[in-house]
Amino acid sequence: MIKGAMDTRLNGIHHITLCPGGAQEDVDFFTQVLGQRLVKQTVLMDGSIPVYHFYYGNADADPGSILTCFPYSRRPGRRGTGQIGVTSFSVPVGSTPFWAAHFDRYRVCHSGIQERFGARTIRVTHPAGLELEVVENPGDTRRPWTTPEISADVAIRGFFGATMSMRDIEEQETFLVHALGFRKVGVEGAYHRFEIPNGGPDRTIELLHEPNRPQGSWTFGAGTAHHIAFHVDTDEALVKQKALYEELGYTDTTEVKDRFYFHSMYVRSPGGVLVECTANVAGGFYQDEAPEELGTRLNLPPWYESQRAAIVSRLEPVTVPEENRPRRETRPFASPTPVPAGTSSAYSLSRTNPNFARYQR
Ligand SMILES: [Fe+2]
Repeated sequence: MIKGAMDTRLNGIHHITLCPGGAQEDVDFFTQVLGQRLVKQTVLMDGSIPVYHFYYGNADADPGSILTCFPYSRRPGRRGTGQIGVTSFSVPVGSTPFWAAHFDRYRVCHSGIQERFGARTIRVTHPAGLELEVVENPGDTRRPWTTPEISADVAIRGFFGATMSMRDIEEQETFLVHALGFRKVGVEGAYHRFEIPNGGPDRTIELLHEPNRPQGSWTFGAGTAHHIAFHVDTDEALVKQKALYEELGYTDTTEVKDRFYFHSMYVRSPGGVLVECTANVAGGFYQDEAPEELGTRLNLPPWYESQRAAIVSRLEPVTVPEENRPRRETRPFASPTPVPAGTSSAYSLSRTNPNFARYQR
């Protein structure tokens, strides 16, 4: 057996990142159709072109509920193998009839109620063509965000998992097991299911074997998933994970990047999916916004703030729907007191800080 799996300490999925097209239609879809809370409006922290980065999540913005989007109308992507094909959300048992009727009300394309690995599911298509699904899952105690149309008894709790589309299974299975610490728990048709030990919601990955499907694009591009992130506790664990990749031969890892709300390190998995690991930063999403104000305005990392005017001038304005407005909660948010902006680490961190006004393209 390859040494490695027992050394990993992944806590589960942290976030999944997609590239939709238009910004407003994305905000409307996730907040109104899926009833997610817009927890952060910020920008892509790579490259020299301002692009929104929206974070959606449950009521507490828990890791494992954070779906993030780069609205990338500049260029279409191509869906295919070597990508995350479906992002799955956990909903209460018995709620799929509600979701079928809700999707019908919004006239969004969906699969109707189906069943996989003994659970009822519905797949739904985002306006940009991205595939998402709700999966009935018992006993998920994470606190949902609700809207006037989506009550707590049916609302999304956070991620259930993700399905990666693969031309071949074997090398991606090796990566999941030995580099990330997953174990294989079942096969149903072309679906191979894996869980992190002591699994549960936000700890499930499926590989869908599609040997004849062409490879999808790897660039940012509207209509495609870009990457998945798993979280570890500390920067030290992040650096150990990087070392584990390199010991196993996955040497195309990145440096540790400062994403302000967390620290990140990436590797391209053998099946083609870009895999990120994140470590928490003190304060997290609450560094620059009070808990009840999450997602209501554009926040930039401190090292971009002096270029705010140049950045904003190249972003389309968006309106935060009523569903996402602050409201009186029945109990306080389980979040820390906001702390001063800025992150630090015992390890070196990488940042990009281009001159946005200079690189007008
Ligand atoms: Fe990410």
